Amino acid sequence: MNILILNGSPRLKGSTRQMIDAFREGAVSAGHTVEIADVCKMKIGGCLACEYCHTKGKGKCVQKDDMQKIYALLGDAQMLVIASPIYYHGISGQLKCAIDRFYSAAYPVGPSNLKKAAMILSSGDPDMYEGALFSFKGDFLGYLGLENMGVFTAYGSENGSKQKLDELRQFGQSLQ
Ligand SMILES: Cc1cc2nc3c(=O)[nH]c(=O)nc-3n(C[C@H](O)[C@H](O)[C@H](O)COP(=O)(O)O)c2cc1C
Repeated sequence: MNILILNGSPRLKGSTRQMIDAFREGAVSAGHTVEIADVCKMKIGGCLACEYCHTKGKGKCVQKDDMQKIYALLGDAQMLVIASPIYYHGISGQLKCAIDRFYSAAYPVGPSNLKKAAMILSSGDPDMYEGALFSFKGDFLGYLGLENMGVFTAYGSENGSKQKLDELRQFGQSLQ
């Protein structure tokens, strides 16, 4: 299976990335192909709401920035992992820009190979996930109709812990 991970953390050795790397290790060991898009290192503008993609553009976005790389990866992906630190009760702003740009990728229908989704979240405090989960459930499970493969969260001292990283590794390994 081709797995695309959108990493919303700007800290490439941070807690989110550690969970991503553990998940990737497990998934690769089980024979999957994993691509990580570090959205904070990419130039991705917010959606302009110009409606080009829903009219003349027929699903193509008018903005020619690094989101084009993600659109190409999305075309091949069978599973999408949304990974982010929690910023002010939601995902990071950079990742939100990328997700808003799904407006074109989901028109008139979502990416054809994409069937599954999972979420990875890191926060300072517990019980900080409602905002991110609302979007995950509404946009990815509901609107795009993807199968929920799991939600993995870590807060405080759980971040970077062996137990948490083992959990992510096993999750990757368990994927069929
Ligand atoms: C701008 C900003 C906002 C944050 N807001 C929250 C928050 O609302 N709740 C929380 O528990 N942690 C919050 N945090 C802490 C991060 O979620 C936490 O440190 C996380 O582990 C960072 O992940 P990273 O190492 O992948 O960057 C915030 C951090 C930053 C920089």
